[in-house]
Amino acid sequence: MLCYYNIFRNSLKKERQTHPLSMRTQLRKVDPENPAPEIIAEAANLLRNGELVAFPTETVYGLGANALDEQAVRKIFQAKGRPASNPLIVHVATIQAAQELAETWPKIAQTLADAFWPGSLTLVVPRPDRIPDIVTANGSTVAIRIPSHPVALALLLAADVPVAAPSANRSNHLSPTQAEHVWNDLQGKVDLILDAGPCPGGLESTVLDVTTNPPRLLRPGLVSPAEIEGLIGSLLQMDKVNPENPESQPRRSPGMMSKHYAPQAVLECTQDDGWQRVEDLAAKGHKVGWLTWTNSPEQTHSTVEKVTMPINAKDYSARLYATLHDLDAMGVQRIVVALPPQSEEWLAVRDRLRRASG
Ligand code: TXA
Ligand code: MG
Repeated sequence: MLCYYNIFRNSLKKERQTHPLSMRTQLRKVDPENPAPEIIAEAANLLRNGELVAFPTETVYGLGANALDEQAVRKIFQAKGRPASNPLIVHVATIQAAQELAETWPKIAQTLADAFWPGSLTLVVPRPDRIPDIVTANGSTVAIRIPSHPVALALLLAADVPVAAPSANRSNHLSPTQAEHVWNDLQGKVDLILDAGPCPGGLESTVLDVTTNPPRLLRPGLVSPAEIEGLIGSLLQMDKVNPENPESQPRRSPGMMSKHYAPQAVLECTQDDGWQRVEDLAAKGHKVGWLTWTNSPEQTHSTVEKVTMPINAKDYSARLYATLHDLDAMGVQRIVVALPPQSEEWLAVRDRLRRASG
């Protein structure tokens, strides 16, 4: 259906022709399970020397820099065009390294780290002075996680420094779940991209603030509130404070304040299967992408790109961003998404779709 690889190849060729003077971004293929030690060593050296390396995690690709090197971290903000007010997640390889990065280590952090690390849970804990202000956006807390992707873990162990890494996309663009997505957004701005194929999770980590009692869910992600509550009891979930009036809610993660996680095309969600809306937009001459579950109708308007999505939340999450990236690359102007059910397993997907639709 989608010949993304060719689009990627062509853009690569074009970029080399049109921007001969931009920084040369190297792209290295690595085995996702057993990355070659010499490639990992090369990437680790770049990080230790203050350069930027994009690497796969089990959620999305990250844009990494040595978290203790202020100048290196500054390059992340420049490459992404990210506002200085939005703090970064610091990635480490061991719980001990995480503890050393925290001013204090709440008991609840230890319980959660034992249960979910390595994995897609980010913990917000009190921050010590030795972490540069730029990482935490001058805040009193720092966000930390141990990723479970073998390439990320190998890189963190070899680098032997904490690695600050936001998603490897330009600010306000979609997070990348494949190396091609990183290339298209950040070529010429990052020294090395490690290409280990698609990220298995496909959505960003769950962010949980454990400096408050009860802990606050700042961003839903692949670890569900039910899994966390099963261990530590009730969480404060922002959207449950007053779902009708988001403005009345306490401040959440700085990165969650504005429109985020959006494709280039205008995205809208429908309560039904979306077909009527798709027909209306196509009739007006728009090229439309349509994410739905229905198999019917077999035949759609010639300007409609229909994508039949997986019916379980895990598989849907893994495919969502890649599908939106593909539709953008095909030049669709509008994207219509049939909203998934309201049950908790779909919380993170619905959250991202809501943000993508602004
Ligand atoms: O899955 C992920 O979390 C990926 C991979 C690369 O680890 N990273 C990622 O980073 O999504 P980023 O920067 O795109 O999103 C991090 C989120 C932002 O919403 C940011 O505001 C929030 O975490 N955050 C970071 N530090 C924080 C802190 N100290 N307090 C509250 N929120 C924080
Ligand atoms: Mg991001």
